[in-house]
Amino acid sequence: MHTPTEQERETEFQARIDRGEMIEPKDWMPERYRKQLIRMMSQHAHSEVVGMLPEGNWITRAPSLRRKAVLLAKVQDEGGHGLYIYCGTETLDVSREQMIDDLLSGKAKYSSIFNYPTQTWADIGAIGWLVDGAAIVNQTALAKCSYGPYSRAMVRICKEENFHHKQGYEILATLMKGTPEQRAMAQDSMNRWWWPSLMMFGPSDKDSPNSGELMRWKVKRHSNDDLRQRFIDRTVPQAENIGLKVPDADLKFNPETKHYNHGEIDWAEFYNVIKGNGICNRERLKARREAHQQGAWVREAAEAFAAKHKENMIAA
Ligand code: 3HC
Repeated sequence: MHTPTEQERETEFQARIDRGEMIEPKDWMPERYRKQLIRMMSQHAHSEVVGMLPEGNWITRAPSLRRKAVLLAKVQDEGGHGLYIYCGTETLDVSREQMIDDLLSGKAKYSSIFNYPTQTWADIGAIGWLVDGAAIVNQTALAKCSYGPYSRAMVRICKEENFHHKQGYEILATLMKGTPEQRAMAQDSMNRWWWPSLMMFGPSDKDSPNSGELMRWKVKRHSNDDLRQRFIDRTVPQAENIGLKVPDADLKFNPETKHYNHGEIDWAEFYNVIKGNGICNRERLKARREAHQQGAWVREAAEAFAAKHKENMIAA
């Protein structure tokens, strides 16, 4: 019986990807594929959990019981998305503890967008509409990725993101029908969240070290720039529909390409934020470290219960 060489295995793996087959946890996969997925999925899960912080900040300040209930539901959803994606990542033989340690030590990244402060209630609208809107574009593509657990997690998560997106847009639409102060608050929020939302899609394709192999392995189905453009094309008409101005003097619809030409992203700001020098990076990590520390007793109790339960199982 011929034992396939590493090269033969990789060739067969790529052939499976090219045929559009789904890779499952127990399938053979190149170590690099596994490592890339752990990186991408764990950072996605970190983003979901850290993303609860800026919005959680406004649960006690929501302007009505209805807004509070909707925001509570959204923040709970984000926590669930994080746990869902952590579970999906654990199928790649990495422990939850390792992933959490990587986040808390600063080794792992989470989305740059969550290092910006939520200064007004309109920011909760901007996050739902722009940030979750960008996440929908990105995650809809990921729902077709080649790794089974990730793809299936995205299908479930995108359904909830649509609720997040709609509630955010409704907050801003309501403010834009309000007083001049409310309209000014909504426009100020648009001005502060537009460009950081474009940065969520990652560096431009020419500066993306991971995209090449992620595209070859059909983890990424579209490039960073393509998804960014898709987001811009669908979001600009929504802004115009409620009277918000996109803060980009170079934004112009190109009738030939049917896309919006847009201004240059401030990549210095992007790299500065992902290096840890954003407005809220330290605050976010401090909050996560404190929460982890305060939650230690829950983990210890669960482990003690599991150990006791295992003992009883063995004794029975
Ligand atoms: N924030 C932080 N780091 C970023 C980033 C961002 N917006 N964009 C890129 N990076 C990092 C990458 O992680 C990579 O660093 P690493 O190699 O140390 O991990 C480096 O910049 C180079 O970027 P690449 O384009 O080469 O990296 P990727 O190919 O991984 O593409 C990505 C980046 C588009 C974010 C991709 O990882 C991805 O699609 N991830 C899954 C989706 C995700 O994580 N979304 C985050 C938001 S979650 C969210 O919005 C929740 C919603 O409910 C609100």
